[in-house]
Amino acid sequence: PRKIYFSRHGESLYNVMGYLGGDSDLSARGKQYARALPSLVATHIPNADRLTVWTSTKKRTIATAKYLPHPKVAWKALDELEAGKADGLTYEQVEERFPEDFAKRDSDKYLYRYQDGESYKDVVARLEPVIMDLERQDDILIIGHQAILRCLYAYFMNYSTERLPYLKIPLHTLIQITPGAYSCDEKRFKVDI
Ligand code: F6P
Repeated sequence: PRKIYFSRHGESLYNVMGYLGGDSDLSARGKQYARALPSLVATHIPNADRLTVWTSTKKRTIATAKYLPHPKVAWKALDELEAGKADGLTYEQVEERFPEDFAKRDSDKYLYRYQDGESYKDVVARLEPVIMDLERQDDILIIGHQAILRCLYAYFMNYSTERLPYLKIPLHTLIQITPGAYSCDEKRFKVDI
């Protein structure tokens, strides 16, 4: 049966500092993940020769895909949830500068839209063309961002919009999804770096 693969980008410099959004490069650990990815793919993806890799247009996903020999497509629609005024801040700084927003996001994380930015609901809408394409194709590996992969994962695994923004999509892990008629099967392959 057809399978879909997801991975977050390797750890970024912003991940290390706790900053939201941005377009930072990979950290040393993130670069190690990029180096490890080709053998992870070769080990766990049957027919890896037919694989196409989709990334966002951000440096961290493109750098994570760097050593993969497969054809690549960079989608703007796969860029991370736009945090607007909170972009480049830590959660603590957001709480300090925009306390009301911070509380609102906490009370409805799916619907909350960042000032000058997006909500999870906005992201689900912009991912629609990606999902349409994904449904029509075999052998796709998406190297994406936390919020984006939560939305895609929730779509295939049938998670509610309440749970979607809290789904755990860890770094340095390849997720395999096998869509079925009623439910999807999943496997996770973690790299220890
Ligand atoms: O911290 C990494 C990150 O991808 C940020 O760029 C993004 O704003 C955030 O995660 C999304 O996660 P949450 O919706 O839980 O804040």
